[in-house]
Amino acid sequence: MKLVNTDGQNTELLIDGETATFKDGTYDVIIHDGDLNTAGHVAANNFIVKEDYIKDMIKRFKGRKGNVDQYEGFRGFMLLKKDNKMTVLTGWQSTEDFKAWVDSEAFQNSHVKKEQRVKSEGSEYLEAMPVRENFKVEA
Ligand code: HEM
Repeated sequence: MKLVNTDGQNTELLIDGETATFKDGTYDVIIHDGDLNTAGHVAANNFIVKEDYIKDMIKRFKGRKGNVDQYEGFRGFMLLKKDNKMTVLTGWQSTEDFKAWVDSEAFQNSHVKKEQRVKSEGSEYLEAMPVRENFKVEA
């Protein structure tokens, strides 16, 4: 699928079972719930994990709450990994559906606090502040 971000820059996400091509190369697909291919909007969170914490991170995501899956317009969740680079992708029917989840109590409670903590105190398991990206899916 062709992804276009807010700067109009294009990238391709090609999911092929256990691997996916995204941006700078081939990633392992660690989790794929739902079907990202049906999304109209894809939100990415890219982060670099300290070597010693990779296993723990995968475990945490495998035990994720599944909260996001209940939201209107949710299409899919994916965890990609390439060495110690990880990307969480969520797929939404529309940009409005994604925004509604970001504004929701669930995301505000878990993530906004998490993000602020990482910003102010750093993180024992991340190499750097995660980078968000948002894409529209081009038909
Ligand atoms: C500083 C920024 C962020 C950090 C440190 C972070 C970290 C995490 C961690 C560790 C989990 C696993 C569950 C847990 O242990 O709580 C998680 C879940 C998740 N994250 Fe993030 N995250 C960040 C930002 C984002 C952003 C911007 C998005 C959106 C694109 C996102 C999407 C998700 C989703 C969809 C889940 C699964 C939630 C569920 O199953 O309901 N994260 N995050």
